[in-house]
Parts: sequence; C-alpha cells; structure tokens
Amino acid sequence: MIVTVTMNPAIDKTVDIDALERGGLNRIQHVELDAGGKGINVSKTIHALGGKSVATGFIAGNAGNIIRGVLDQWQIANDFIEVSGETRTNTKVFEKSGELTELNEPGPTVEEEDIKALLHKLEGYADQDTLFVLAGSVPQGVPKDIYYKITELVHQRGAKVLLDADGELFTKALKAVPDIIKPNRVELEQYAGMDYIASEQELLSAAEKLMEKGIGTVAVSMGKSGAVFLMEGMKVKCPGLKVKAHSTVGAGDAMVAALSYSWSEGKLPEDTMKMCMAVSAGAVTTIGTKPPSMDVVSSLLEQVVLEEVK
Ligand SMILES: Nc1ncnc2c1ncn2[C@@H]1O[C@H](COP(=O)(O)OP(=O)(O)OP(=O)(O)O)[C@@H](O)[C@H]1O
Ligand SMILES: [Mg+2]
Repeated sequence: MIVTVTMNPAIDKTVDIDALERGGLNRIQHVELDAGGKGINVSKTIHALGGKSVATGFIAGNAGNIIRGVLDQWQIANDFIEVSGETRTNTKVFEKSGELTELNEPGPTVEEEDIKALLHKLEGYADQDTLFVLAGSVPQGVPKDIYYKITELVHQRGAKVLLDADGELFTKALKAVPDIIKPNRVELEQYAGMDYIASEQELLSAAEKLMEKGIGTVAVSMGKSGAVFLMEGMKVKCPGLKVKAHSTVGAGDAMVAALSYSWSEGKLPEDTMKMCMAVSAGAVTTIGTKPPSMDVVSSLLEQVVLEEVK
C-alpha cells in the first residue's frame, strides 16, 4: 500500500482575467479549483496510472472539506487529521498578457497534539507492505525533523519511505536513511554545498555519496535535461523526453508517483526508470499539476532511452 503524507495541502485556485487593475474592481472570467500539495498530487497521479494510495496529512476548515470532496470524487482514499484554522488557498491570477500574480495564504498552525495524532495514524498504516511518501513543505508548528521522526517510526514496523523534500527537512530526514529519494538538481546541489551549477558527473558523485549512507534508490531529476538513477547496483542516465511543455509545475511529483507506483507493482529497475521518465514528461504536457493520461504515458514510454553510466 502507498500512503502519501501532505502536511501542508492547498487548494490551487486559478483565475483568468483580462488585465489586473490594482485598487479597482476586477471581474473574473474563469475560475478553476483543484486539490494540491505534493502528496496529494502524487496520489492523483498514482490514480491516473491505475494504482491506489491513501492520502493523509493535515486539513482544516472549509478548504479542507473541499480537498476531501475532490479526493472522494476521484475515488482516492483519504484519511486526514483535521486541525483548527483553514487550509491554504493559493490563488494564481493569470492575465491575458501572460502576467501571473500569486496570492498564497499562510495556512493553519498545527499543534503538538495534532502531530501526535498524525504519527499515531501513520503507525497504524506501517507494515512491510507499506510505502510512505513524505513530500513537500510543512505548516507552522511542525518541526523540521518531522520526516526524520516519521521515517524512524515506520521503519521500526518494516515499512519503506520515499522522501521528496528540501532544505532542513531533507537533511534531517536523511539521517534516518529513507529508502527512496528524489532530489532535483538544485536540492542536491544545496545539500552537497555546491553553490554553482554542478556538472552531471558532480551530481552523480553527490548521489553516490547518498547511496553509501544506505539509501536504496536515488533519482536525481534535472528538469528538461532528464534524470539520473542509482538503484540496485545500476547507474543510469535518461535524457529528457522531447515534449510540448505546458506547465513544468508538478513534474517532480509525477516522478515521485511513478517511483511509488512502480514499487507497489514490483517493477524491475529498468521499467521503473522508464515509467519515471514517461510519467514526468507526460505531466509537463498537461495544464498545471493535472496528471497525464495512460495513453500519453504509454506512447512516451517508447521514447525513453536508458544510458548506463560507467
Ligand atoms: N521541459 C521538460 N521537458 C521534458 N521533461 C521534463 C521537463 N521538465 C521536467 N521534465 C521531466 O520531469 C522530471 C522532474 O522535473 P524537475 O527536475 O523539474 O522536478 P522538480 O524540480 O522536483 O519539480 P516540482 O517539485 O516542481 O514538481 C525531469 O526529470 C524530467 O523527466
Ligand atoms: Mg520537486
């Protein structure tokens, strides 16, 4: 079973208007609402691939109810801890000129009891057949060692962890040795203290150092340049697929979904890497964080090239 954890979900609200007038009345032409946050995006993509997951984390208020409603509508199992306050609504205002204005809410503050309740819930899901996906930022009130704590907790019950986080959340969690990680280029550069654009060789060396800590799979995503994978003794570079890009937001989440789905299906490393490339490139062709269809993924799978790195 896959359990995605979204500590800080959001409603993504996209608004189209002609031209934003500061201090004036702006009439909206089109509004779109979607449930977002990294773990939720991962659950949506797993669902699009025909897999199953349970989405959990913290939700609050009316916005939290909307998120639950969206997931129910998609028949994505969800089991959130309800906290007081209001889940974030992040509004993106698109003007005809292409100008984008973003209005992001702060979201709720999580209390210590809420964290305890979530840890207890996660423990209940943890066994040898469970993969926890820990992805994204955390709300106010949640300490930066939370992914470390969860990883330790669920490892005790034989469960696995896929980590997709940055900064302190990432660095601290690494000490508990998650099983799968997917840093992007910048996240890995920052972790390794490289304050310049690293070469692929340097990224590989940094990834190899992480493997030495005992992490089973390291996938380093490099945007349109593709990705490198270190898993089961293999070191592979996959050049990015040529696609018509609509929105690269959530491409990383799509790769995390492909890694999780492949794990749950017991796929071989080569097939896992191919899936990662096809699903993430497919996500780039869709609007916002919408998952790609299986038809798109199937045709992109044909294009994936695996280059073994010596
Ligand atoms: N323009 C693009 N064309 C083709 N594939 C892309 C493009 N951008 C991203 N991808 C695919 O998506 C994968 C993940 O992208 P990226 O490295 O940007 O992740 P990320 O920075 O973690 O994204 P996010 O966290 O916003 O979801 C890449 O390894 C690649 O396979
Ligand atoms: Mg990312």
